Amino acid sequence: NTLNELEILLEELALSKPMPLVPGADVLHNPVDIYRAQLAAILVGLVDCDSKVAFNAIQTSNEIANGDLDIILPKLKLKDRPVNPKELAFELIQQHKFPPSPLFVLPVPDGIHLRVFFSLKSLAHVILPYIADRGASYGTFPALGLSDPSDPASTPKRLLIDFSSPNIGTEFRGAHLRSTILGAHIAALHERMGWDVTRINYLGDWGKQIGLLAAGWARFGSEEAFAADPLRHLLDLYIRMELPFKAELDARGRIRDEGGDSAEVEARMADIETHGLHAERDSWFKKLEDGDQEAVPLWQRFRDVTIEESTKLYARLGVVFDEYAGESQVSAASIERVEAALRDKGVYEESHDAWIIDFRKHGGTKGMDKGTLRFRTGTTTYLLRDIAAVLDRAEKYNFDKMIYVVSSDQEMHFQRLFKALELMGRADLTAKLEHIPFGKVQELQLEGGGHAQLLSDFIDVSSNAASELLKVDVGKAAPLGDVQAAADAIGASALMVQDLHGRRSGQWTIDLTRAMTFEGETGPYLQYWHARLCEMLKSAAGPAVTDYSAVDGEDYSDLLRLLARYPDTAKAAFKNLESGGVLTYLFRLVDELSMCFDPEEETPEVTASDGMVYGAVRQVLENGLKLLGIPVCGSL
Ligand code: ARG
Repeated sequence: NTLNELEILLEELALSKPMPLVPGADVLHNPVDIYRAQLAAILVGLVDCDSKVAFNAIQTSNEIANGDLDIILPKLKLKDRPVNPKELAFELIQQHKFPPSPLFVLPVPDGIHLRVFFSLKSLAHVILPYIADRGASYGTFPALGLSDPSDPASTPKRLLIDFSSPNIGTEFRGAHLRSTILGAHIAALHERMGWDVTRINYLGDWGKQIGLLAAGWARFGSEEAFAADPLRHLLDLYIRMELPFKAELDARGRIRDEGGDSAEVEARMADIETHGLHAERDSWFKKLEDGDQEAVPLWQRFRDVTIEESTKLYARLGVVFDEYAGESQVSAASIERVEAALRDKGVYEESHDAWIIDFRKHGGTKGMDKGTLRFRTGTTTYLLRDIAAVLDRAEKYNFDKMIYVVSSDQEMHFQRLFKALELMGRADLTAKLEHIPFGKVQELQLEGGGHAQLLSDFIDVSSNAASELLKVDVGKAAPLGDVQAAADAIGASALMVQDLHGRRSGQWTIDLTRAMTFEGETGPYLQYWHARLCEMLKSAAGPAVTDYSAVDGEDYSDLLRLLARYPDTAKAAFKNLESGGVLTYLFRLVDELSMCFDPEEETPEVTASDGMVYGAVRQVLENGLKLLGIPVCGSL
């Protein structure tokens, strides 16, 4: 609603017009700011300070047990007042008599804080229609995505986000899953804050390992196995090649370690590289690079089937990509431009068998060391392709920001990438890039032995575990509807919540036993409540309520106070790109909600006013899950 409607709402509470407008207060997106602005106006009247200073001295309390707002007295910066905050607190509430307000009860002094509680009457009256009106947009701040935040008509900023990005033919690892989950969340987060988001899956579909895969296909490829389960067949081929290939690598390593006459060592090592699987791999990759009639269509088949299968699998997680890019898609022109610019700036040098940048000579940090861009054989590296891809993307999308969600193992790769652009004279691009790293993932062990190796393994295992759960706990499963239909979303949310609840930099041990239960802080638990609320609200038909007196008492007070905090929580998640706070909030919310029900009893009849409260909780749950990038079960 508009400012005008908001004023009418407040007028009904006997608050006079106009609403105090304080710079920084965003009353149309954050209901807490209505209270902060009103409280700031009261403070200005009491101690005669600047309204902005007063507004900034008021913070959301850390815990609702400590009140809703917290006036931090030293922040009022009153020069001609007693500095002792206790005296000031006393003065404010006693001598000056804090004016009665329909929005607040009398503040409570606590050290340097003055703790302020919302009056329950106003809370139901303000917050319920506020959330009902905002609906899906409650908790979004569109200005955060505007190219000019002060001009609502300005265009949204564009984010490119590169995530998941597995490699063709090789394992889809826990790190790829984590990148998928975090990436989907960070994309959703930006989208909900008004950004124009493009999701890119940058497949590892080029390089020597593709040569090895092609060699594997030539030896052991089976059309039948490929048709039955293409990605597993490709992985099988790769694994069959990898073992003997590794034996060659080891043999090469032993020759080097044995030492001796260097010319002889070189010769023996070169011998290995020019024979056996090394030679097979390299010749396939060479054929591919030369546009060979046999190699290219084969590679195209691998790439196409990977995209086709992956698209279906990601959809089961509720994840959709706008573009399947890949290392193979980087334009030759951009690669040329990168190398020309580096040469031009005098930072590209030939070293032994490769073209490199020695970052240590050009102001790079210690660990950056040297980065190889092109091998002697002429083959481009992961690094060179990634640098050139930035130029391609800048041209195609003209992005304001690009985020790479990739394991912290690749920290150095991204530092080199960013530095290389700078050295090329494109510091303007470096400034728009961000690597968002994350900690290790313990591989997911499978029941029959081994670990998850394909995205389908992760999805099947969690989806099956979800089916089991839904069959066992029939009571909790009931609102979630058809077991088969719900299993994927429940499975996905179990994984996602477990990952997103922890700190990004920490390790993630995928523990499905702990994640796949309706007890405790899990995805299924949140989904259950969302779906149950949907069911309850279906039966709570009736005219929209405008009288909140039935729900403005103690019963719902904490729930309403929490609901008011959702926008702050969402904004904090955006500011520091950590998802844990949103989950902590959602769990707190459903815990509070669950206290409204007796677990032994059937859900009581839902009155129209109860429905207002449950409707608001449901909306916030939905908004929170969507902010996290988690598919939502149940609908109205
Ligand atoms: N394919 C890479 C891997 O599996 C990740 C790619 C990440 N994105 C990028 N632009 N480098 O390790």
